[in-house]
Amino acid sequence: MSLEITATDAAAGAEVKGVDLREPIGDNLFATLDRALGEYGNIYSRDQELTPDQQMAVTLRFGELDPNVFGETHGLDGYPGIVVISNVEEDGHQIGVKGAGNNWHSDMCYDATPPRGTILYAHEVPEKNGLPLGDTCFAATNKAYDALPTEMKEALKGKRAVFDFAARKHLNPITQEQIDRFPAVSHPVIRTHPVTGEKCLYIMRDDTTGIEGMEQDEADLMIAALADHITRPEFIYRHQWQSGDLLIWDNCTVQHRAIQDYALPHRRLMHRTTFAANGAPA
Ligand code: SIN
Repeated sequence: MSLEITATDAAAGAEVKGVDLREPIGDNLFATLDRALGEYGNIYSRDQELTPDQQMAVTLRFGELDPNVFGETHGLDGYPGIVVISNVEEDGHQIGVKGAGNNWHSDMCYDATPPRGTILYAHEVPEKNGLPLGDTCFAATNKAYDALPTEMKEALKGKRAVFDFAARKHLNPITQEQIDRFPAVSHPVIRTHPVTGEKCLYIMRDDTTGIEGMEQDEADLMIAALADHITRPEFIYRHQWQSGDLLIWDNCTVQHRAIQDYALPHRRLMHRTTFAANGAPA
């Protein structure tokens, strides 16, 4: 098998062919995949047949586990680091997190050190009359940055955005104990990618609660304008899942959003793992 990495025709995403992820990822392959992940924002490989242990091995090759709080109640049996994302019910109980990520976001932006990447492995993909449902969209924050007018790039230089986990209260059922674990943090609005050195925009409509040194009204307008800009159609890749897809996304190069256009009896079952960055965001 020879490795082939083909960019999609959208602003993000590349398909990786010629890899069997059941096998250990050697140093050369890892360096190529790590670079492609940073550059394309997400890389995916179809027809993988992975056990939970093999998904864990792929994840740990990229970095230490860094699961988010929403998965704490839906870890896979025997694998607390694997979060089950699913609409499936068994004995009247949800077997996984239902409706995860239906707003544009970058994972755990409310953390002082957000994770480098996230892996989603598709076990069951809902479909209607042959049409796959439950796509995931990715917005290329590097391309969005490049396309900003020079004046805006100048205005954003050195600015830091505030992320307050408490703001998620209206989106997710979170406890006071979880809120206390994540006091408000700030990150550069323009992040420099740790691998590619590219500049990426790091602003999300629902998670960014302010911009340091800016009046709240002005910050709200800026956040809305940038969030709209990042998610313009020309910066988006929409992944249509097949079971057996393993997709890795980079939480700096892209933001993502899950499309909730399916319901039982159409089943969606994914296993998610998240891995840490090697250092704080630039
Ligand atoms: C997520 O945001 O982690 C969920 C993505 C998906 O289920 O497509």
